[in-house]
Amino acid sequence: MLAAMQTVDEYSRISVEPLAGALGAEISGVDLTNVDQETYAEIHKAFLAHNVIFFRDQELTPETQMAFGRLFGPLNRHSYVKGMDDYPDVFRIVKEPTDAHHFGNAWHTDLAYEEQPALGTILYGLEVPKAGGDTMFANLYAAYDGLSEGMKRMVDELQVVFTNANTYGKDAQRFKTGIAKDMTVEQAPTEKEVIHPLVRTHPETGRKALYLSTTHFSRIDGMTKPESRIILDQLAKHAIQPDYTCRFKWRNNSVAMWDNRCTMHYAVNDFPEARRIMQRVTLQGDKPF
Ligand code: SIN
Repeated sequence: MLAAMQTVDEYSRISVEPLAGALGAEISGVDLTNVDQETYAEIHKAFLAHNVIFFRDQELTPETQMAFGRLFGPLNRHSYVKGMDDYPDVFRIVKEPTDAHHFGNAWHTDLAYEEQPALGTILYGLEVPKAGGDTMFANLYAAYDGLSEGMKRMVDELQVVFTNANTYGKDAQRFKTGIAKDMTVEQAPTEKEVIHPLVRTHPETGRKALYLSTTHFSRIDGMTKPESRIILDQLAKHAIQPDYTCRFKWRNNSVAMWDNRCTMHYAVNDFPEARRIMQRVTLQGDKPF
């Protein structure tokens, strides 16, 4: 069994229906604008057990989305993506039919280039395509558990240098493709590197997970970039094998909340004709160890 699966019987306030064997569960029977302590405790339990949880038919404003997020801890204000005018801790991800590129269209975990990357992310679907625009998730506990003992011994020792330059530096694709709607190339931040362990221990579950983010890698500490790529590309390929993933089909008013400490995700760019508008709140995490 890949994930610590829990059935509906273990919850009294909510219903929890796993979406796949690897990770992901849909939660029903809850209005996210009105969550009491017992219900929060069950949602939190399901979040830790299933790594990404989904809710349907929610009516969220920026305020109520932030309030739900704050149940889990402080919110993060993105260093480079401008928040909404009245809600700097909330930002919208908008893809118009004329936009070629799509935010999050590569396997990554949020804010891996920060000293304290995101704990979790809460994404709300405001306007989603009829077909396409799904989000995929990969279970990085399962990816670690699936390695041989020899490989585990090797990766356990490694530290990875992550950088903001690939996604926000002046040479980043966003400036070539027009995705950087609220930042000009002159405003691109200077490169910042941080080091995190390649295998991190989840601070709440105590489980080990690979810590991978393909858009934010620079290199393995102490190795050249080409040497690092051999290992990191192989691990990323291993981590996104179908057996370790799930895929969420959005509807308007759906919510996905993922744990960035043990998952990667990928926003699928397969809806050239449609508009997609999402509203994101990000939870502040702590330094990986
Ligand atoms: C993200 O990576 O934060 C966005 C994911 C999505 O829009 O599906």
